[in-house]
Amino acid sequence: MIDVHSHIIPGIDDGARNIETSLAMARQTLQAGVNHLVCTPHIHWGHFDNTTEIIQSGFKQLQQEVNAAGIELTLSYAGEVRVNEMVPIWAKEKKLPFMGKWKDRDVLLLEMPHSHIPSGLDQLVRWLLNEDIQPLIPHPERNRDILKSPEKVQWLRNLGCLLQVTAGAFTGTFGTRVEDLAFVMLDNNQIDLVASDTHDTKRRPNEMGEARHLVSQHIGEDIAQRLFNDTPAKIVLYS
Ligand SMILES: [Fe+2]
Repeated sequence: MIDVHSHIIPGIDDGARNIETSLAMARQTLQAGVNHLVCTPHIHWGHFDNTTEIIQSGFKQLQQEVNAAGIELTLSYAGEVRVNEMVPIWAKEKKLPFMGKWKDRDVLLLEMPHSHIPSGLDQLVRWLLNEDIQPLIPHPERNRDILKSPEKVQWLRNLGCLLQVTAGAFTGTFGTRVEDLAFVMLDNNQIDLVASDTHDTKRRPNEMGEARHLVSQHIGEDIAQRLFNDTPAKIVLYS
């Protein structure tokens, strides 16, 4: 599997606090059946002021440690960018880290607040698409506006967003409401891919293996293969 969302670079967001945790996460991720992991630290203006340079530097150190430890997990990096008014400016200044490509557009992991769908999101998505940037929205199933009004899932899809559901949503880590919405989205063919969004090995572990099993049992192996393997591979290994 290819896992496109993780907080494994130590010390730069609310994920791994130190390199020991990062290495434990890398081992757990490999054990879950993932062979390539994209490191996506938060870029959350005023909270986690990460830049591509900061992420790249942390990534290089992590890569060295993972190699030295003999963990056979390949890594790449991007960022999880919280919606804010700087996004178009960062795009114009070529400061956004992309995880790969989808249909010739650069893929941006674009995070909404957990509480609501921000006003103006539709204009931002249209602007990004017009700039050949493909928004990939993580964990819509955990957004409180969407939990209240699940029809917003289709609204996001109709805007042209790709949607990434969290592996732990299927295993019940985020409670039954989130789990139920994840399976409804699965039944409605509204999910483009699944990723772990792992932050540590205990509270937010990598649950890709268990989630893939549950999805395969629920809807069949072909769709599990697409959501956990093929679509992430198309984005990350586009070249
Ligand atoms: Fe995340």
